[in-house]
Amino acid sequence: MIIAILGATRGMGRALARAAAARGDQLILLGRELDELQRSAADLTVRAAGAPAVASISCDLATPAGFGPALDAAWAVHGRVDAVVVTAGLFGTQDALEADLELAARLLTINLTHTVIFCEEARRRLIAQGGGRLCVFSSVAGDRGRKPVGIYGASKAGLSHYLESLDHKYRADGLITLTVKPGFVKTGMTAGLKPPPFAGEPDGVARDVLRALDAGRPVLYTPAMWGLVMAVIRRLPRFIMRRVGF
Ligand SMILES: NC(=O)c1ccc[n+]([C@@H]2O[C@H](COP(=O)([O-])OP(=O)(O)OC[C@H]3O[C@@H](n4cnc5c(N)ncnc54)[C@H](OP(=O)(O)O)[C@@H]3O)[C@@H](O)[C@H]2O)c1
Repeated sequence: MIIAILGATRGMGRALARAAAARGDQLILLGRELDELQRSAADLTVRAAGAPAVASISCDLATPAGFGPALDAAWAVHGRVDAVVVTAGLFGTQDALEADLELAARLLTINLTHTVIFCEEARRRLIAQGGGRLCVFSSVAGDRGRKPVGIYGASKAGLSHYLESLDHKYRADGLITLTVKPGFVKTGMTAGLKPPPFAGEPDGVARDVLRALDAGRPVLYTPAMWGLVMAVIRRLPRFIMRRVGF
């Protein structure tokens, strides 16, 4: 597959890009820091010995005017893109976001409004070429209004909702949308937070995502145990949710 990925410089995006390169996928990296991107591209080119050099294209989720040109540049590399992957996103603790509403506004804008606009630009191009895959990292935090992730979770709830609608509306046109819902995964984003039971590693998430992408699945909980955890959480009555800290 030819995969364009926004967010491959760190965390789960980096693990996913490495796993994809190792199995022979051709990667195009999109991100906000060209130096950082070029370092990641050089690393991936070495890992995928014999494959063409990995391209890097500047794209900042804070700047929607750049999304179309960045995706056009991605399409120009090989003439098509089979999958667009978005792992880029921001996190803030509920305490930090409640204390700083500018930070809260930035997070909501990046994770929801601008990610949706980026996906719209990708959707148009994927459908125009006859189809393709769109894989976007949301979160289990979007499945239920919970005390510790009210604002971050709201951004991911909106994103999951949008992605589900894309799957319903455009699968018949060849657009296969995968919503990835990681549970707690040990990356820079969660550094300093106490890992709960069933915390995952980026490499395990990467393997799960590639399998789900290949299979054309619409939703992936990863690590898989989080699918069961959230099935229970979604069913808990409000009087219990008010009492627990989860
Ligand atoms: N870790 C978890 O437990 C967890 C759980 C559920 C969902 N998620 C979601 O999974 C995704 C990946 O998380 P992660 O833990 O792998 O995060 P991470 O290690 O913090 O990496 C985040 C990536 O997003 C990129 N990014 C941030 N802001 C950007 C912007 N304005 N424009 C372009 N790229 C930007 C970063 O690029 P730079 O190198 O330029 O900073 C980096 O590559 C996120 O959407 C996150 O919300 C994470």
